[in-house]
Amino acid sequence: MANNSMPPPGTGDIFPDEAATWLSLENTARRIFNLYGYGEIRTPIFEFTEVFQRGLGNETEVVQKEMYTFEDRGGRSLTLRPEGTAGVMRSLSGTDAMNGVEHRVFYIGPMFRGERPSAGRRRQFHQIGVENVGRVAPALDAESIAMLCHFLNEIGAGGFKLLLNTRGIPADRKPAEDALREHFAPRVDSMCEDCRNRLERNVWRILDCKCPECQSHIAAAPDAASLFAAPSREYFDQVCQILTDWNIDFTVDPRLVRGLDYYVHTVFELTHTGLGGQNAIAGGGRYELNLPGMNRPVCGVGYAAGMERLLMVRDAMNVPKVEPPHPDLYLVSLGGKALEKNRKLADELRHNGISVALEAEEKSMKSQMRSADRLKSRYVFILGESELESGEAVLKKMDDGSQQTIAIDSLKDMIVR
Ligand code: HAM
Repeated sequence: MANNSMPPPGTGDIFPDEAATWLSLENTARRIFNLYGYGEIRTPIFEFTEVFQRGLGNETEVVQKEMYTFEDRGGRSLTLRPEGTAGVMRSLSGTDAMNGVEHRVFYIGPMFRGERPSAGRRRQFHQIGVENVGRVAPALDAESIAMLCHFLNEIGAGGFKLLLNTRGIPADRKPAEDALREHFAPRVDSMCEDCRNRLERNVWRILDCKCPECQSHIAAAPDAASLFAAPSREYFDQVCQILTDWNIDFTVDPRLVRGLDYYVHTVFELTHTGLGGQNAIAGGGRYELNLPGMNRPVCGVGYAAGMERLLMVRDAMNVPKVEPPHPDLYLVSLGGKALEKNRKLADELRHNGISVALEAEEKSMKSQMRSADRLKSRYVFILGESELESGEAVLKKMDDGSQQTIAIDSLKDMIVR
């Protein structure tokens, strides 16, 4: 029988004690991205299916096998976003980004891919992504990478490995494409069925194949990027030079093509030993997207990092989890009158910015103190009949156990935040 408390495979719940760490990651991203002039953009969770088909490329694994696609009531095909770039480009395609005006945006949110779930691979996962849209310049590619490294170091996920390559621009790829076809054609019979189809349709995708039987053939393939025409090679040299000037370590990986077809020029991926497997914590590059209804492609450079994977790396690096917020004050009530007074006090204190917990009904002193402990409240205030009469009661500071008798009316001023 299905366990009703379990969410669907490849998805997960985030409980309040974990949410604090997620939030801190998101807030660090916001802070770092702001330093580079990026503002937050929020686009729909689903888009018309053709946004992803045209945007990511029909030959990609994501489009062919992993999209959650459904029809709306009018019969139009919609898809839960498998990544953020295509939707962001769809939204900016109505702006002056199309006329070369630079836009700097970032996004944080859930993405959906129908992959086989495993550690670090989920069907609903969360990305923190960044896009610099509208302009083409090697310095922008390098800055995008530098910003990602800055963010990862800041959240305690330093020690990553940066892999870099170039996809060149389509006009410069022909000699490289010919060399790859020449290399794979005599071998393709011993390769997987997908790769046999890819040979003519999109030979680059072979380089991204994960099937065991294809790996030795891929490893022996020529270094395609070195065969690109000069403009693409020079662009990449400039990106590498700027990164070197900024002391950012990288390894050029001639097999790195990335899983999406919109990339041109620079592509990059970051891996971390803390993840164990081969999984990347982040990836990105420069792209050109040709979306429905657009008469020319929109260009940009950016990346996305998987939040679940970042959290796994932080765990592996023993970065402490962020404590969820605890109440400033727990109001203990001994008797109905005290409870009534505490309800009023709670309302007033909360409107003064002090977080307060108290029972909804009368409970024993012992049970209320247990709750205060469980919630890790910083102070406890104990009110009974005699305290109501005298107008004074005990305020206890929980970390050192010290206590003092204070006027009930002065409670607000005694809570040091
Ligand atoms: P991507 O490499 O497909 O690129 O995904 C980026 C990151 O999302 C991965 O490095 C990984 O950390 C995380 N990720 C991807 N799939 C999963 C999954 N099934 N479960 C958990 N985490 C996952 C993109 O999505 C591009 N839009 C990045 C980009 C932005 N390129 C240019 N701009």
